[in-house]
Amino acid sequence: MIDSPEKSTVDRDWSAYYRAVAGRPPRDTLLKALDLFELEKSTKSPRLAIDLGCGDGRDTVELLRRGWQVLAIDGNAEAIAKLCDRQDIDSTWLETQVMQFESLILPNSVNLINSSFALPFCHPEDFPNLWHKITTSLRTGGRFCGQLFGDRDTWATAYPNMTHYPKEKIEELLQPFKVEYFEEEEHHGETAIGEQKYWHIFHIVASKK
Ligand SMILES: C[S@@+](CC[C@H](N)C(=O)[O-])C[C@H]1O[C@@H](n2cnc3c(N)ncnc32)[C@H](O)[C@@H]1O
Repeated sequence: MIDSPEKSTVDRDWSAYYRAVAGRPPRDTLLKALDLFELEKSTKSPRLAIDLGCGDGRDTVELLRRGWQVLAIDGNAEAIAKLCDRQDIDSTWLETQVMQFESLILPNSVNLINSSFALPFCHPEDFPNLWHKITTSLRTGGRFCGQLFGDRDTWATAYPNMTHYPKEKIEELLQPFKVEYFEEEEHHGETAIGEQKYWHIFHIVASKK
C-alpha cells in the first residue's frame, strides 16, 4: 500500500457509508463495461483496471473475480484497510493506494478505469486535470465507466467543493470517447446513510477513441 498526504475536500462520514453499503453487489456500469470486454475476445489477459474511489471494494471484488489486475485507489485509508481485510478476494493481482484524486498519478495503457459514485467528490478546480489524467491513462479502446453528477443535484449547491456539471459539459468531457451507455437519472431519494436529497446522476460507459 502506498500512502500519500490527505487533503480534505468534502466532509462526509465515509465510515458510516462503508457500513451501510457493506456486501452490496458491483455497480451496473461496471457490469456493462465488463460484458463489453467479454464480447471482445481479442483482449489479452491479465488486463489492468483502476478502481478510482474504490471504497471498501464492491467493484474491485468483481474485477478480481473476473481475472483482472486491479489498482484500487481511495483517498480514505479506512476504505483501503477494509478492502485489504476482505475475505472474499484473492489479492494476488491487487495493488492499493491511499491517494487523493487531486494529486493522482496514473499508469499508461490502462484497459479500464472504473469510478463508481466517486469522481464528483473531486474538488472542482482539480477536476479538469483529473479528467485529463483519466483520458490519457487509458489505451485506445480502453473504457471509462462510472458516474458523474449533474447541476440539478442537491449537493451542487450544498457542497461547493464537489464537481457537478450540466449535461452539455459532460457530453463535452466525453468527446474523446465513443459513448456506449449513457443514462441520466433524476429524482428525489436518499443516500446510503439515509439523507434525503435530489439526485441528478449520469451513468456512463465509454470507450476511448
Ligand atoms: C460514495 S463512495 C463510493 C465508493 C465505491 N466506489 C462505491 O461505489 O460504493 C466515494 C469514495 O470516494 C472516496 N473519495 C472521496 N473524495 C475523494 C478524493 N478527493 N480523492 C480520493 N478519493 C475520494 C471516498 O473515500 C469514498 O470511498
